[in-house]
Amino acid sequence: MERTQVHEADVLIIGAGGAGLRAAIAAKEAGARVAVVCKSLLGKAHTVMAEGGIAASLGNVDARDDWKTHFKDTMFGGKYVNDWRAAELHAKEAAAEVIQLERWGALFDRTDDGKILQRRFGGHTYPRLAHVGDRTGLELIRTLEDTAVSKKVDVYMEYTITRLVIDNGRVVGAVGYKRDNGETVAFRAPAVIIATGGAGKIYTVNSNSWEGTGDGQVLALRAGAELSDMEFVQFHPTGMVWPLSVRGILVTEAVRGEGGLLTNSKGERFMQRYDPERMELSTRDVVARAIFTEVREGRGSPHGGAFLAINHKPANFVRQKLPSMYTQFMAFADVDITKEPMEVFPTTHYAMGGIRVDAETCATRIPGLYAAGEAATGLHGANRLGGNSLSDLLVFGRRAGVSAVAYANANQAGPLTDEAIAAAEQEMNAPLQRQSGETAFEVLEELGSLMMEEVGVFRTAESLGRAKERLAALRERARNVRASGTRTYNPGWHAAIQIEGMVALAQAIAASALMRTESRGAHTRVDYPKYDDNLQRVNTVSHDDGSGLHVEFRERAPLPEHLAELIEKVPA
Ligand code: FUM
Repeated sequence: MERTQVHEADVLIIGAGGAGLRAAIAAKEAGARVAVVCKSLLGKAHTVMAEGGIAASLGNVDARDDWKTHFKDTMFGGKYVNDWRAAELHAKEAAAEVIQLERWGALFDRTDDGKILQRRFGGHTYPRLAHVGDRTGLELIRTLEDTAVSKKVDVYMEYTITRLVIDNGRVVGAVGYKRDNGETVAFRAPAVIIATGGAGKIYTVNSNSWEGTGDGQVLALRAGAELSDMEFVQFHPTGMVWPLSVRGILVTEAVRGEGGLLTNSKGERFMQRYDPERMELSTRDVVARAIFTEVREGRGSPHGGAFLAINHKPANFVRQKLPSMYTQFMAFADVDITKEPMEVFPTTHYAMGGIRVDAETCATRIPGLYAAGEAATGLHGANRLGGNSLSDLLVFGRRAGVSAVAYANANQAGPLTDEAIAAAEQEMNAPLQRQSGETAFEVLEELGSLMMEEVGVFRTAESLGRAKERLAALRERARNVRASGTRTYNPGWHAAIQIEGMVALAQAIAASALMRTESRGAHTRVDYPKYDDNLQRVNTVSHDDGSGLHVEFRERAPLPEHLAELIEKVPA
């Protein structure tokens, strides 16, 4: 075997979306040698799918807004199973992060008096989303990318990490491969930050691109870290439904934020039935269930969705506020949204659950291992408010970067042995060495439809029980998939390496959903339609000690008085 080149860093960051890049900038500013690894090209991240804005209580459009109301809205949206400390830090620090972005060169739409413009989004009491048209995530990524590159962060593009290396209970580095030539690569670092985003690709209909396969959650689970709240999967209410080739692509909530109206085939504004007060700007869990129900009860649009209209607004307004939506519908569906309504249906968008971390430091329970952004969990509870993802990744990306450097300064890098690299390499090669068996794509197809049918917007003990059984069988099949060809630019091999991890995450989602015998936020149990007050105090925690997946309830520390008071008294 040729000796693998080992790259050295103080902080290794896996993932180069918003959280990874924000962490990289913070770590670099703190004086660390930073390596950022991404399995795609730099800037290609699910962050860009947060199109409508960044939630932060700048108070530019309504001066009554402040961190207290943002905190309260986030807790209400998350149905009170959020990590309250994360919600407090996020609400307090989000505005400064938006200002920092602007200093780094981010462009925003403006109020008449030149301040950053903020728009309405579901569940936010005041217009709170700083935005640039409907391309806010893209602008955020562009800004962070430019800043990180100008600060000379080392970036390794098209590198897939397949294993974290643990020595004596602490993380010492990671091993993976390079896509263009298939070479094994290794990184040695005392501190590692996972910022790989979500796992929407586990579901057939989703808003994610090919990167959203939950790699970071899988790496963490295998390394001995815990996952939490996996039952809470966000189905964004509005994805495209037609043509089928683009089913699931996001239709930004900014359409509703700018006055978009939802109607069914009878022309009714059906949100009247589900949330007469907030209507189209209800929280995502409520709107997704409403659209699903309208379609199921026979009041759907021709292609099985709801109508979303913005064509009652002037055409110039639509093209200015929603340029991407205008182009997207023209190009993909031949629909001019200034003239006709869109057809929309819920699409898997975001994981509220993920790697369990400490809110202050973003540390997992593995020394040296941190996580931030969608890969981590805590802030959003049972349902995330739109726009809170971008502020989440800025606030906790920065915190993860700072904490990782503090750890790296206090701890030297551990040993990354040839044996550890060889073991990871052996594991990667296994699918190429099998002479028979099915491909990962066959397993993936079944996984996606199974999750849609049995662990989707509506769940029951029966559907989850079936899912559990079928997933156990799929896991076995995933362990034995075969890939042909070589290690060079081979998507079949890539899929074969990651499929078992995807099934493992699906198992964690289904098992957690089965345990939570209530309906809360995005988790709707038809057989338990109400809240259970006892379950408000707990989060599900999943871990794998080598003998398989275990899921349990873990009690949260009670809300301290100063925050409980906010929930009671702050107007929202
Ligand atoms: O609808 C959107 O623009 C998505 C925003 C988000 O997920 O935060």
